[in-house]
Amino acid sequence: MPSYLSNLKIHNLYDITMSSKEAHSKFDILEEIAMNRHHNLLGGNISTISQYNQNSKFIEPYHLILMNLEDYPTGDELSLKRLKSVFDSAYEAGFYLIAYGNKSFLESKNKAIQHIVNSFPLLEVESNNFKLTNELFTYNYMTEGYHFESVNDDKEKIIDSILKTYTKEEADSEQEFLSVPIASSMDGRQTINFTLGDKSKNYHAFITGISGSGKTTLLNNIILGIAQKYTSDDIRLYLMDYKEGVEFQVFKHHPNCEKIFLDNEDIQASITLLEEFKNKIKNRASIFREKGLKDISTHNVKNPKTPMPRIILIIDEVHRLFAGNYKQQAYFSKLLTEVVRQGRAFGVHIILSTQTLAGTHIDKTLMSQIGLRVSFKLTHHSDSEDIFTYSNTEALELDNYELIYNQKSGNKKANLRARANSPQDIDMILSEVYKIRDIELILKPKIVTTSVNTKIHNSETKEESERDYKYNTDNEDAYLNKLKKMGIKT
Ligand SMILES: Nc1ncnc2c1ncn2[C@@H]1O[C@H](COP(=O)(O)OP(=O)(O)OP(=O)(O)O)[C@@H](O)[C@H]1O
Ligand SMILES: [Mg+2]
Repeated sequence: MPSYLSNLKIHNLYDITMSSKEAHSKFDILEEIAMNRHHNLLGGNISTISQYNQNSKFIEPYHLILMNLEDYPTGDELSLKRLKSVFDSAYEAGFYLIAYGNKSFLESKNKAIQHIVNSFPLLEVESNNFKLTNELFTYNYMTEGYHFESVNDDKEKIIDSILKTYTKEEADSEQEFLSVPIASSMDGRQTINFTLGDKSKNYHAFITGISGSGKTTLLNNIILGIAQKYTSDDIRLYLMDYKEGVEFQVFKHHPNCEKIFLDNEDIQASITLLEEFKNKIKNRASIFREKGLKDISTHNVKNPKTPMPRIILIIDEVHRLFAGNYKQQAYFSKLLTEVVRQGRAFGVHIILSTQTLAGTHIDKTLMSQIGLRVSFKLTHHSDSEDIFTYSNTEALELDNYELIYNQKSGNKKANLRARANSPQDIDMILSEVYKIRDIELILKPKIVTTSVNTKIHNSETKEESERDYKYNTDNEDAYLNKLKKMGIKT
């Protein structure tokens, strides 16, 4: 995917499917949108979305679907029946389709391609020239004597101008330091973003759900969204993974990642890290005091060229940290509560995920500091009431990969039911990000496997902490070699 397109992807203006499985799930979404539009918007005098848009204050977006026939899946993966049903409702539903590819597809034996060839008008382009036909353009007789050729404008420039208008609107309505897509509403019409910041007044998050319900996939999508949308000047990640200590290994090339902890037995490592965060908070507090600043948001507004990065710690399977001896557990939960309470003002944020809160030391004091709660399917009333509030048990009714997004500390009225986005190709996305990211902004995550390695080099002097250290320069050669191996030019 060219880099200018990945910029559109970040803003949900563009999406791509690389496999027939992904194509199926995208077609599911399109079919659902089409069905909803037919049920709710069309009827009477209004038979198409374009008519609807001419008569409505709320404009429905159009979808342009481009199909590369050269890479069309063979076999029955994307069934002909399915294609036909999307094509049949396309025009009314506001979908527009363009199929393209090398001329050889005209002879293809694939039934789906034959169907496309027979139902779409053909535009042949040869050496950048083409001829309009009556089939393509009713008033074609008026074009006689004209010569047509394809233009090759500066694509980066076009995309820039689209993004300028688009991101301006986004920026005006947004003072969140984090906002990444994670799900879509049940009718498929709205994207649900995972957001933290001053607008929603949420600075930490808690995620629950039974085994296999989609928690790790959601975390992965948040972590990928961060790589795509924010640089290490904006957000730095610490990933702790307590499931067999392997899942977060896939992020060893994440450009925003400071440390990845892979030892599921090592409770001491998490204690050491939280102590490190406490020191960071202390340093930042003394900088703010000196400069008379209220908090990190004020600091970053006043110093747009040297912002302080937000630090996000993500702990998957956090309940495993409550398996050690009682003293250690109690100390860990005390530290966690302290960091969570002070983190808001100093830019230290925590996202916790667990199957159940039962048996942990996560109490009401800690929960009251964590306004954003997300739950996948649960099977016990008590689990649902622990993550949300008394009698808020909607999580018991969820289907697979559905979630409740609640920004109001679990208040029942704020439940937002949604469908979580499916797993993505992590390696592909990260290597796309590498191609467009300034090397100066790429961190080399430190993989921590034992508590010995976690010894803090608390390098953060006051000056350094204004911009933290750039990327880790020790072992730079090995790092550059690694990039080369990934096919990334340095
Ligand atoms: N939104 C989704 N759409 C399609 N498949 C999904 C989705 N979310 C998760 N899956 C699939 O479901 C399986 C379980 O997901 P995941 O590992 O995220 O669950 P989990 O809640 O973290 O489970 P556990 O508690 O056992 O760690 C994975 O194989 C994943 O590919
Ligand atoms: Mg998991």
